[in-house]
Amino acid sequence: MAWPGRRNESTGPVLLDCRTIRNRVRELGAQITRDYQGKTPHLVAVLKGASIFHADLVRAIELPLSYDFIAVGSYGTEGTSSGEVRILKDLEDGLEGKDVLLVEDIVDTGLTLHSLVQNLKERNPLSLKIVALLNKPAGRKIDVPVDYTGFDIPDAFVVGYGLDYDQRYRNLPDIHLLRFGK
Ligand code: PRP
Repeated sequence: MAWPGRRNESTGPVLLDCRTIRNRVRELGAQITRDYQGKTPHLVAVLKGASIFHADLVRAIELPLSYDFIAVGSYGTEGTSSGEVRILKDLEDGLEGKDVLLVEDIVDTGLTLHSLVQNLKERNPLSLKIVALLNKPAGRKIDVPVDYTGFDIPDAFVVGYGLDYDQRYRNLPDIHLLRFGK
């Protein structure tokens, strides 16, 4: 799929097809179900990228649960290296006394997650864990403890299943490598 007038980008090969993703999301859901027995996890999904993963993940968790959404942006062009995320849309509910599970689509540099975790910890959750569908170890600039990881991926730009390039391609069912140029 190519979009006219853009940086000549187009979707490249499929890195993770929808069946592989579905199976892994079910495994993550089963693992979370086991780990949170007797608890009511409160999932916090980071908009926009994690929205599709989150929607599938909650249906793979066989526990009573609640969820909320947060949207964050970075200051300037150097990501969140200031150590602070800018909250574009905040949570509706407080986190005090909740077993919070932060849901991300991808961890690359780790800067977004690192600063978001600092922010959420100040709201006094009972516990705070992280689930990320994709992990790109080669991109890491700061260590972040990811408790549940779907897939480790190579150092490449990926789109689909919620992940975008310039707000496009989020609706693709598979995760593709993105190709630039002809
Ligand atoms: C992506 C992703 C993470 C962040 C990871 O969000 O959803 O939040 O980047 O990158 P990092 O580990 O290098 O900080 P993005 O800013 O693309 O917004 P989106 O979720 O709306 O696509």
